[in-house]
This record gives sequence, C-alpha cells and structure tokens, in this order.
Amino acid sequence: MRIRRIGVLTGGGDAPGLNPALKAIVYRATAHDVEVMGLPDGWHGLLDAGIDEVVRLEDYQVRRWDRDGGTNLGSSRTNPFCVTVPGETRAHDRSDEVRTNIVRLGLDAVIALGGEDTLGVAHRLSEKGCPVVGIPKTIDKDLSHTDYTLGFDTALRNCTSVIEQARTPAGSHHWVQVVEVMGRHAGHLALWSAVAGGATLVLIPEYPFAYERVYELLTQRLTRGKQDRRYPRYAVIVAAEGAHADEEGVVTLDASRDAFGHERLGGIGSQLARRIRRDTPFDSRELVIGHSQRGGSPSALDRIMGRMFGSAAVEAVRRGDWGQMVSAQGIGPTCQLRMVPLSQAVSGLNTVDLECVYDTDRYTAKV
Ligand code: F6P
Repeated sequence: MRIRRIGVLTGGGDAPGLNPALKAIVYRATAHDVEVMGLPDGWHGLLDAGIDEVVRLEDYQVRRWDRDGGTNLGSSRTNPFCVTVPGETRAHDRSDEVRTNIVRLGLDAVIALGGEDTLGVAHRLSEKGCPVVGIPKTIDKDLSHTDYTLGFDTALRNCTSVIEQARTPAGSHHWVQVVEVMGRHAGHLALWSAVAGGATLVLIPEYPFAYERVYELLTQRLTRGKQDRRYPRYAVIVAAEGAHADEEGVVTLDASRDAFGHERLGGIGSQLARRIRRDTPFDSRELVIGHSQRGGSPSALDRIMGRMFGSAAVEAVRRGDWGQMVSAQGIGPTCQLRMVPLSQAVSGLNTVDLECVYDTDRYTAKV
C-alpha cells in the first residue's frame, strides 16, 4: 500500500530527543513524498483534539527542532482505554474512537513516541488493527529490547551536573546531601549519574535498602580520621524516587494515580535526610531535582539517536511494520537498528542488573 499521510504523537513525560526525532520523521517522510500531521498532546490528539489543532509539519517548520528540548507537539498521559470524566468514577474505553479518528484524518499510519504507557497503548491499538509504529522514549531507560530510549543521556547530563554542584556546599558544611532523581521502577539514571557525579552511595528501586546499613556506611566514611583534612567530611547520596527501604513501600506525593494507575512518586529524599538527622550525628540536606532533569536542549547523543530512530520509523511505516518498535543495539551513529514487536518491548521492564553493577558494595547499601 502506498503511504501518503502519517500522524505523529509524543506521549508521557517529555524528554529531550523527541524534537530531533520529529524533525527526522518529517525530513525522511517528505523525501518520500509522505505528508506528516502533528497530533497534539499524545493520544489526546486522536481523541479530543480539534481539527485545527492537528497541523501539517513541513521541513521548513521543523528545521530547528533538533536543538529543542521537550516536545513541540505537547504531551499528556491520556490512556484511550481508560478515560475518566470529571465527576464520574467509571472509566470509559474510547479506543474505538482513536481508530475512527485515524481514518477520519486520512492517516495511513501513526508513529507514537513514548515509554511503557504510550507504547502499551500503541500495542493494544495495533492488536485492534491500527497501523502503528513506536519509537522508544523515557529518561528512565527502562523499556525492554532496546539499548537506548530518548531522553536518558540529557537527563544523565542534567543530574550529573546537579550532583557535582551539590558536593561543594556539602563539603563546606560537612553535610550528608541527599539528591533525589527520577526513576520509578528502574535505577539506571540514579546509578549512572551517581557514578558520573562522584556520589558516595546510590539507592535504586531494584535494591531495597536498610536504613541501618546506610548509617553504617556514612559513619565509616565520615568518622575516618576526623581531624585529618585528607579525608572527606561529607557524603552525597543519590536516591531514585522509586527507591525504598526493604520494610517500607515507595514514598508518594499524594494518593492520586494517573490514567495508567501510577502513583505520583516523590519524597524518599526528604524522608532519608530527615531520618539521617534524627538517627545519626550527621547533619543532612535534601535536594529534589524534579522536572528540570528532563529539561534543556538535547545532548549530542539524544540528537543522534532521535535522528536515527525518526528516520528508521518512517522506513518501518513504508514497509508496513505495524505493531513494531524501532530498537537500538548499541548506542551512537554506528549502532544497529532493528524492529521488535511492541508486545515484547512492553512485556517487562529493563531494570538494573545488580550482578553487573560496578563496585556494588561501594555504591549500594546492602542489607
Ligand atoms: O516516566 C518518566 C518519568 O520521568 C518518571 O521517571 C517519573 O516517575 C515520571 O515520569 C514523572 O511523571 P510526571 O511528569 O507526570 O510528574
């Protein structure tokens, strides 16, 4: 079938690398005489968007998008299989409307850029016969069957810079500085940024920790040669927001859940800093990097991977690889790109393999 028009959407948390990918999609599609329609705010763009909100993207409009962070299409956590109406408790399955709107907009295919939730919807829609192709995106780098997900490298850059900057006040005041970074189920971002930023300890969701062991490691570091200036008198702990003590659950901001059933995580950093002040002789401070870790212009790697993923997705559409996701084996311009079924990509998460963590005893608080 000759592809004439495709729709593109970005769903879930924004991530640097999305705009470079969108630019590549538009350039590659235009080269094949295929029109690209930008759908606003994730799956919302195929449910409730007004016709004037769906815009044709042309080369000249996206020429500078490779420099932009976030997503110029907007994003949301809309789940067409579970839509709630204010004032109603019952959720509605509106996925048939997505299918109808794909036809109404004259789209021969949809390229969805997202993480486990957005691509989970893409997978379910493809099972219903929708022509969908996926591109992996999440700063958590927790999608299976791909070595890279857009946004990770820029978030790593951002977090590393904050952790490094946190060392000077902590060193001057002899604090235990706790830095909370994102990472719901996977600790890749926390682990990589902790190592790159020179942190003392890292706590990740895959490895429930014991407070007593954290205190013990802090004591070992901070009481060594107390008056000897050759020894550091501060510590930096990086905690992923999904990290939790082995006898406790994750710390949440409130009781709300999004359309995919996820709790709003946050607070492990301040809880840990409070307990260190309460249970040890050490003074402690907390710092939550928050959404700015997803901010700023894309790193070199996110530009490269965005460009490669975007071009590969258009070729996948031209081949009719429905229900598949572009996946990277290796990272960078010489990596291998292949297609994997969305069913596999969303079947389980890619979490940190503890057996492979460098210097595990030093960087994690083992019970
Ligand atoms: O999925 C990416 C992510 O950044 C997670 O690490 C984090 O738990 C979540 O998004 C934050 O969600 P929100 O942007 O809705 O606050």
